[in-house]
Amino acid sequence: MKFALIIPAAGSGTRSGQHIPKQYVELLGVPVLAHTLRAFATMKECEEIVIAIDRTWRATAEQCAEGIAHVRFVPGGEERQYSIANALRDLGGSPELVLVHDAARPCVPRAMVERVLRAANEYGAAIPAMAITETVKRVNDDGRVTETIERGNLRAVQTPQGFRRELLASAYKHAALRGIVGTDDASLVEAYGARVQVVDGSLDNIKITVPEDFRRAEAILTSWAAREKPVRVM
Ligand code: C5P
Repeated sequence: MKFALIIPAAGSGTRSGQHIPKQYVELLGVPVLAHTLRAFATMKECEEIVIAIDRTWRATAEQCAEGIAHVRFVPGGEERQYSIANALRDLGGSPELVLVHDAARPCVPRAMVERVLRAANEYGAAIPAMAITETVKRVNDDGRVTETIERGNLRAVQTPQGFRRELLASAYKHAALRGIVGTDDASLVEAYGARVQVVDGSLDNIKITVPEDFRRAEAILTSWAAREKPVRVM
């Protein structure tokens, strides 16, 4: 299933504890963004990639994309949503499906991407998500618990999120007109009134946020590389 890919990579990543944005920190000697790009660039169905960046990092971002065809860069915005809006405007007319994937998720399994694409094609919008295993509570500003939330129907949502291009563009226009700002793309499609389908996410698909996440991501990528190595027959 052919798709275009949007990668928001214009954040400053202040919680990651690094002096450079987290998407440019090296994992196993290669920047996070380069790992993320490689995961998709090896899929022949990926026809077009638009990356939203802070122009200060243009040279580094270009290095990350070296050797990958059909990559373009657009300027990022103040919020993730505005970065993606810029990328959406730059997107060509085809293909019909668009994936949006955070630069900060370099450990994205191919089987999960395929699940998202299939469901996006069928339902118009699809997101990968995980059941929540911890107990979830609402707390007020001074730390007092005000509610324990029934977690059975709660999901922690990941990217890539997949959409029919027309639907995503309409949802973004609708949000801009009404001043709606969401923390993910699907929330704008929900606000637009369209159906969003959940598929299984992956435990490996972590979003690098805090300093420990760099080591976790390296461990995941190392275990994948070990699995891919051919078994030596003596
Ligand atoms: O900060 P957070 O991890 O939630 O950001 C998710 C993704 O959105 C990251 O890949 C980040 O680079 C990107 N982003 C962006 N433009 C912003 C803020 C975040 O492209 N203004």
